[in-house]
Amino acid sequence: MSRPLTRADLDALPSYVPGRNPADLARELGLTEAIKLASNEVPFGLLPGVAEAVAEAAAQGHRYPDMGVLALREALAERFKVDVDRVATGCGSVALFEHVVKAAATRGDEVLYSWRSFEAYPIVVAGVGATSVRVPNTPGHGHDLEAMAAAITPKTRIVVVCNPNNPTGTSVGRAAMDAFVDAVPSDVLIVVDEAYREFVTDPDVPDALEEYGDRPNVVVLRTFSKAWGLAGLRAGYLVAAPEVADAVRKVVTPFSTNACVQAAALAALEADVEMRRRAAIMISERDRLTTALRALVPQIPDSQSNFLWLPIGEQTVPFAKHCESRGVIVRPFAGEGVRASFGTPEQNDRFVAVASEFFA
Ligand SMILES: Cc1ncc(COP(=O)(O)O)c(C=O)c1O
Repeated sequence: MSRPLTRADLDALPSYVPGRNPADLARELGLTEAIKLASNEVPFGLLPGVAEAVAEAAAQGHRYPDMGVLALREALAERFKVDVDRVATGCGSVALFEHVVKAAATRGDEVLYSWRSFEAYPIVVAGVGATSVRVPNTPGHGHDLEAMAAAITPKTRIVVVCNPNNPTGTSVGRAAMDAFVDAVPSDVLIVVDEAYREFVTDPDVPDALEEYGDRPNVVVLRTFSKAWGLAGLRAGYLVAAPEVADAVRKVVTPFSTNACVQAAALAALEADVEMRRRAAIMISERDRLTTALRALVPQIPDSQSNFLWLPIGEQTVPFAKHCESRGVIVRPFAGEGVRASFGTPEQNDRFVAVASEFFA
């Protein structure tokens, strides 16, 4: 019998589902425009200065980029008042997550996370050959940190806290997080994935960098993809203890934070005031949409992110299909719920109208 060319254990792995292309859908439906509320992007285009910085970097594209990503790491280190050797960057925070898992876990090791959470976690963990341990979300769709702490075994190398959680938007409060970081053994990495940190307004939701960043086993993952509007350019970063950041940098694919991305992220940081202005629009849309959509789906949990979770069980796929038939792309998780990202106020109005039609 011949050996399979690729690993047989990957057959059981679900593929990552990217959001559908709105231009394709619009063409299919004969609409002038379809809207994508499926990937938690922000709808405003690039921040000022980014396109020019990318063009300038691209003009030198025949040269390799700075492999150490020093200028960007220094800018991040200054911003967060940490040493530069504590910062690592990657081709999106999802790639950095993979590098962290690679740096800390191997076959037979366990990586523990709440479920449902970010769909890349099981894919990355299996890719490295480690074992996923999933602790079910609470009935309110959040992390059960006590159960997560209790599920740690001698094989656990990493626990992940996604705060706010994708796709449910829920967040972990300070008291629960304080108790959790104290409960996790010091030889287990705590990865706090804060992809949506810039949208957090609840003062009870801790900033992991500020509040736990000095603990040697805490890794804080952030991204330029969401509030900073660079999803297509792929820039993520982490702050960790120097030894951990160094181990991560060792396993990073060389040059994967490319020259255009380094320039784009630096330019985006310069446009910080504008980023905050845009994030504030998403935050006010969050309040408005929560009220409007709860009139249709009362069990929507509070969100601290730029999306809402509609836990509508068996209605999930029919609802997503209904939205798509009206030119609105949302992200269904069959049998569980729909994640809807916030667009412009006009796009959100259109989504509420489409949802009202379905639930009427
Ligand atoms: C919780 C969470 N972490 C990480 C990511 C990945 O972001 P990036 O685009 O930086 O890879 C996402 C993207 O959806 C996310 O929701």
